[in-house]
Amino acid sequence: MLKRNPLSVKKLLITIDGPAGAGKSTVSRALADRLGYRYVDTGALYRGVAYIASHRGIAPQDDAGLSGLLEGLTLNFVPGDSGQRLTANGEDITDAIRTPEISMLASAVSARAAVRAFLLRIQRELGQQKAAVFEGRDMGTVVFPEADVKFYLNASTQVRAQRRFAEVKAKSDVSIEAIERDMQRRDLQDSSRALAPLKAAPDAVMIDSTELTIDQVVERILAHVRAVLEPA
Ligand code: DC
Repeated sequence: MLKRNPLSVKKLLITIDGPAGAGKSTVSRALADRLGYRYVDTGALYRGVAYIASHRGIAPQDDAGLSGLLEGLTLNFVPGDSGQRLTANGEDITDAIRTPEISMLASAVSARAAVRAFLLRIQRELGQQKAAVFEGRDMGTVVFPEADVKFYLNASTQVRAQRRFAEVKAKSDVSIEAIERDMQRRDLQDSSRALAPLKAAPDAVMIDSTELTIDQVVERILAHVRAVLEPA
């Protein structure tokens, strides 16, 4: 039986924003586990839209094509044997969305107003129950400006590229230089777009993970969360 976690009695909505490769997913998942909260990877939703668009031959700049696609699209997170799965109209696309091509396409479609509006609604619905850790680019600024605790996680470009390289080198022959170049392109695209650009909310706790382990980042975040849950 699961032990009741005293920290999770109060249902907070926690947001973690930051650039690609800063460790957001690992940290958010670990934090959600520790608190007994849900973990919501909002980047997966943008990847889902990008994946379906690429399958149907719809270019990221084709707003009419994207709007048509969104009208008939149902994205769902469903529990799986080893964590959460993402389905698009019932098809499991969890693994298919994790390619460098879909990363770049997701960044491109995420600049389009129709895509952001469509996913904003889904994300807010998912956040209604609180007791969740939401990870993305605009969680603390646009989607949940009223979140209980907000974090902005960053790390040097070199360290982010090294971490991503360590993750993918077993399954792909991509070079660390290519990863770093793609990451910089994507960061620039995500932070310079007009709509909901990547940036820290003014009230976010800033954490630079360049010289920290995942555990150290999680502990630092938990210390802030505890202070909100159990004010002195
Ligand atoms: O977190 P990720 O790398 O899976 O995200 C893929 C892309 O989706 C990212 O480059 C920008 C976009 N994105 C976004 O615009 N807003 C979010 N909240 C999450 C992701």
